[in-house]
Amino acid sequence: LAVTLMPKSSGQINNSILKNEAKVATVCPLKDIEDTVNTSDKGVVAYCRCWRSSTFPLCDGSHVKHNKATGDNTGPLVIKK
Ligand code: FES
Repeated sequence: LAVTLMPKSSGQINNSILKNEAKVATVCPLKDIEDTVNTSDKGVVAYCRCWRSSTFPLCDGSHVKHNKATGDNTGPLVIKK
């Protein structure tokens, strides 16, 4: 049985986060989300969806640079109180 390994796609969106993991699944219990929203200054919490944040899974605004560089339109998942 021959197995051919395919080269990794150049279309990967995750460049740096937990690359040693087969899949990055972030579990955020509802209580933790509620606590974060309740203690944030603006009553919101933003979760990264662009895979560029240095504070992943929270958004740090890196999507702005990514969007400007690539023409993409990514942004965070924002949860409001
Ligand atoms: Fe990734 Fe904001 S840094 S969505």
